[in-house]
Amino acid sequence: MSDLYEIINVPDPVLKETAQAVNKVDADIQKQMDKMLATMYEAPGIGLAANQVNLLNRVLVMDLSRQDEGEDRSPICMANPEIIRESEELSVMEEGCLSIPRQYADVERPANVRVKYLDYDGKEAELEASGLLSHCVQHEIDHLNGVLFIDYLSSLKRNMILRKVDKLKKQNLI
Ligand code: NI
Repeated sequence: MSDLYEIINVPDPVLKETAQAVNKVDADIQKQMDKMLATMYEAPGIGLAANQVNLLNRVLVMDLSRQDEGEDRSPICMANPEIIRESEELSVMEEGCLSIPRQYADVERPANVRVKYLDYDGKEAELEASGLLSHCVQHEIDHLNGVLFIDYLSSLKRNMILRKVDKLKKQNLI
């Protein structure tokens, strides 16, 4: 048995909190990144932010590799990620979230972004993202600001999704 975090689901208020910057990427933060990755792979998902495991520091992990198609893992770990450039061009993609199980909706975001962050070794790094990676990194940074993909939907759609998750919980399906 590996040591995993529990993933927090809506409507837990921790998902609405703003996470705080880390001072540096030390051994504790690296341990957190490792454990978040293990939790994400187990789920399975392509991204996970600290709020989703009940931690309120600005840490996220992602891996968009297709392991089901034989690709090697390709983890990306970020501390203090910050969008430093975003395109005017927009992109619509269907998004889901490990904290909103089994629910999906189209979300519109800037098509391309450039993100500055501290990597697993604590070094300053930048990522140029487009397509799925762009949606994913923006979605995860949103989590650190207490924003969920359903916040971009009409209140009608959002409430429908929240009711569906509530129903799944009551049926012990999640
Ligand atoms: Ni999410």
